[in-house]
Amino acid sequence: MTSESAPVERGNGLFGIYVHWPFCAAKCPYCDFNSHVHHGAFDEEQFTQAYLKELAHFAALVPGRTVNSVFFGGGTPSLMDPVSVEKIIDCIAGHWNLSSGAEITLEANPTSVEAARFKAYHNAGVNRVSLGVQSLRPEPLAALGRMHTVEEAKLAVGIAQSVFDRSSFDLIYARPHQTLDEWRDELGEALNMAVGHLSLYQLTIEQGTRYFDLRAAGKLPMPDADLSADFYELTQEICTRAGMPAYEISNHARHGEESEHNLLYWRYGEYIGIGAGAHGRLLIDNVRHATATEKLPQKWAKLVAVNGHGLITNDRLTWEEEGDECLLMGLRLREGIDPERYHQLSGRKLAAAQIEDLTKIGFLQTLANGNLRVTDKGWPVLDAVVADLAM
Ligand SMILES: C[S@@+](CC[C@H](N)C(=O)[O-])C[C@H]1O[C@@H](n2cnc3c(N)ncnc32)[C@H](O)[C@@H]1O
Ligand code: SF4
Repeated sequence: MTSESAPVERGNGLFGIYVHWPFCAAKCPYCDFNSHVHHGAFDEEQFTQAYLKELAHFAALVPGRTVNSVFFGGGTPSLMDPVSVEKIIDCIAGHWNLSSGAEITLEANPTSVEAARFKAYHNAGVNRVSLGVQSLRPEPLAALGRMHTVEEAKLAVGIAQSVFDRSSFDLIYARPHQTLDEWRDELGEALNMAVGHLSLYQLTIEQGTRYFDLRAAGKLPMPDADLSADFYELTQEICTRAGMPAYEISNHARHGEESEHNLLYWRYGEYIGIGAGAHGRLLIDNVRHATATEKLPQKWAKLVAVNGHGLITNDRLTWEEEGDECLLMGLRLREGIDPERYHQLSGRKLAAAQIEDLTKIGFLQTLANGNLRVTDKGWPVLDAVVADLAM
């Protein structure tokens, strides 16, 4: 089935903009995000103009929308000149209706140099920062190849909390050599520091990274599946007790402090992705398009100069693809997914027998509002649950 004559309104009113800044001061050995270290001369103003040009392209494609959230992600957007950030925010506000309460987040690395720019980002229009602290212990921080110390990270968190009403930080756990007791202590300390939001990621080993080669050479002792599950369970237990339960597999927040932009992805809203290697999901004439831009920054900038955009993918999704994506994203959420929306998007119903089986084995539950949600027991095997349901 194709999306040619979609009878239903496929949007849900959520619309955001992701701005990818693909540069970092150094490449961390575990990271497979689209990040590059630029050597030699770099013209930030020229790059900024390319972002503005790409925004104009998208504004012509999807005009008249209200923007609920903007997210500067990376890479390391805290390497950006605050003036560039302001130009991009102003440009967004010029093309669309940037709602007065829009969440505008910037990902930041917690070095002292970057923390010194927080106030200027705030003045530029940013109202939330997300800091990549990664660990509150010196040895693992060094092993993760980070450019900041524990003390610098703590200072940066303090500065962020004094400058912004809303902030979050990221930690990576289930690391090589880490014990459950060590993580209990570290997480407890993190929860004392956190104000409203915390992202807690289990370390994953991605192909193409230095960690991947180290593990292949037997030099990276990773926790086995049982220990990983114990790490996850312990994390849920401690965070829930501290009043910061997970609203998504790796994201924890006090009630009302959830990230609007994160929610937009998982609630399957619309988002534009600009900058090198950014992805988007857009409704054009009520047909959902999956977009992606060129990953190499210089090549992306050249494409924008020639075409007005750096898009290398702009695919119309079929109803089935939309339904599957909506399911995959929605089941990551604590609030679950409305099976009726899946039905409307995909044109088919979730199989009752599958729902019953997964419920019986304790992986799935139906909430009072009719939403389907993966249980605590089911979260560690989420991919299998989704695959079963989407059959
Ligand atoms: C793309 S990074 C950008 C943030 C920023 N550049 C930094 O490093 O702090 C976003 C987050 O993804 C997480 N992350 C990246 N690679 C990971 C991996 N292999 N395993 C677990 N978490 C990872 C880190 O916690 C990081 O803060
Ligand atoms: S983890 Fe962050 S700082 Fe490190 S390479 Fe990836 S994006 Fe850059």
